[in-house]
Amino acid sequence: MNKTLQNDLLIRAALSQSTERPPVWMMRQAGRFMPEYWEIKNKYSFLEMCKTPEIAADVTMLPVDLLDIDAAILFSDILVTGEAMGGELSFEQGVGPRFSNPIRTQADVDRLETDCVDKLRYVADAIRVIQERLAGRIPLIGFAGAPFTILSYLVEGGSSKDFKRTKLLLNNEPALAHQLLQKIADVTINYLNMQIDAGVNAVQLFDSWALALSWNDYRDFSHYYNKYILANIKRTVPVISFCKGSSVFAPMMADANPDVISIDWNADLKNVKQILPAGVAVQGNLDPFVLYADKSVIEDKILQLFERMRGENGFIFNLGHGIMPDIPFDNVKHAINVVKRFRY
Ligand code: CP3
Repeated sequence: MNKTLQNDLLIRAALSQSTERPPVWMMRQAGRFMPEYWEIKNKYSFLEMCKTPEIAADVTMLPVDLLDIDAAILFSDILVTGEAMGGELSFEQGVGPRFSNPIRTQADVDRLETDCVDKLRYVADAIRVIQERLAGRIPLIGFAGAPFTILSYLVEGGSSKDFKRTKLLLNNEPALAHQLLQKIADVTINYLNMQIDAGVNAVQLFDSWALALSWNDYRDFSHYYNKYILANIKRTVPVISFCKGSSVFAPMMADANPDVISIDWNADLKNVKQILPAGVAVQGNLDPFVLYADKSVIEDKILQLFERMRGENGFIFNLGHGIMPDIPFDNVKHAINVVKRFRY
């Protein structure tokens, strides 16, 4: 697939091959920090945007056209798998995602569907439209939420600060938690395989809230299922494994056999890379809050990271987590220009 890409920097870095500079894309690049996003968002609900392939493609293409980045990421959300399984999902302005029928009992878990990939066909359709528009310019990244992170939304009924209900379930009813995680994992495998068949060039597994877990709970309730997913999806495209908490969990994440581990901003990226097995690339790890700062500061912090990573193959530049919606567009553009001017 990457032979047909005009810019395959991301794929080469993901496979730990040499690149003339680090490739750049940013988590949450297809979103609210762009005024052009709001022009579309003001006309449709978020889920309508996700479920209408032409609109999902329009939004996916915004950062491609406006920022000239090295990879596109499918416009969708990690929570669409939870919805397809039977979660009643809505996104309200200022509230964030909500599942109005939280999953907390055995009966709730039993009701969740696992044969639901047909309900997610709109994602495969969007991927085909996007690939036509990209016409091989840059890779397209597909994605899914990891089982633990999806479980946390299903159980809490939305976002959570402390994951109190999630942890209660894990602690008091581990067998029920495992049933739920297994169901989500099976859906995720079919969903990612559908995306790979539809033509994405890489996939990222988002385990955003793994940082809430202790080492042992991460191993049993998160890592175990991520490893199962990575062992059961078609490994024809590079796989990026992301979690907040990766500064601590990276060595265990490597045991799931991803091509790339995306590191939050707490760790020194080179130190992490050096403790990982050879051939595992890293992605990261600028603190996204740097993008609020003066342009000279943004440039200095990026170049500091690049100096540190000089000589390392297998490095994709990204943020340690997603772009915040109020980060100035010009600052994001500046950051990308700094990367694109750099040469090893
Ligand atoms: O990266 C991209 O630009 C591609 C699209 C994408 C979205 N969500 C679009 C979105 C991706 C990859 C995601 C992943 C996602 N969604 C994650 C994992 C990444 C991370 O940030 O940790 C999580 C935890 C979610 C759940 C979610 N979806 C939340 C918490 C929210 C609301 C608050 C927030 O942080 O944005 C959403 C809604 C959402 N997903 C929006 C977008 C553009 C905003 C919708 C709007 O316009 O109001």
